[in-house]
Amino acid sequence: MSTLPVILLLSGSLRSGSTNECVLRTAEAVAPSRVRTVHYDGLGELPHFNPDDDADPLPAPVAGLRAAIGEAAAVLICTPEYAGTLPGSFKNLLDWTVGGTEICDKPVAWVNAAAPGRGQGAEAALRTVLGYTGADVVEPACARIPVDRGMVGADGIITDEGVREQLGEVLALLAAPPSPSPSS
Ligand SMILES: Cc1cc2nc3c(=O)[nH]c(=O)nc-3n(C[C@H](O)[C@H](O)[C@H](O)COP(=O)(O)O)c2cc1C
Repeated sequence: MSTLPVILLLSGSLRSGSTNECVLRTAEAVAPSRVRTVHYDGLGELPHFNPDDDADPLPAPVAGLRAAIGEAAAVLICTPEYAGTLPGSFKNLLDWTVGGTEICDKPVAWVNAAAPGRGQGAEAALRTVLGYTGADVVEPACARIPVDRGMVGADGIITDEGVREQLGEVLALLAAPPSPSPSS
């Protein structure tokens, strides 16, 4: 059993052939050897959030989500923007984290893969919602890395060397956030 710190990869898209999913698959491929990535694939199984159900015993998919976050040293999010904000299914996932303690103080970063000038609504919503969850947003690791389909190979992995390098840097920063400067 590996003892390497786990970075949990959360995609906000349910679409087959999702670009955001490709970004996370590529992040897995370029991850530094000192971390282990775990790809969460339960987004589509989560029930609609209902506070009445946020009690023991939790619905099994919710317990699975919280356990995955709890076991991770850090979380990397890659989500599309729908209608100026987060996809409803991904907001639903984040709503389920609020009643648990797993994401509190957990280092979290995101990659915004939208084309330049797009995706700001999703990013702003992420910032707001993660603020409510108590996650520790690692700002230096949050990155805008525009990805278009032409950069993705037949295996769903991004071939563009620049993007691959940037994703590697994101994971490295998330795994070991820089310590604050003495003046801050
Ligand atoms: C219903 C719907 C609404 C969308 N709304 C926005 C939007 O408000 N802003 C934006 O930048 N892109 C918007 N898009 C484009 C998606 O964010 C974009 O296609 C993204 O790459 C989809 O991610 P995926 O490939 O990971 O599924 C929308 C797409 C759909 C299907």
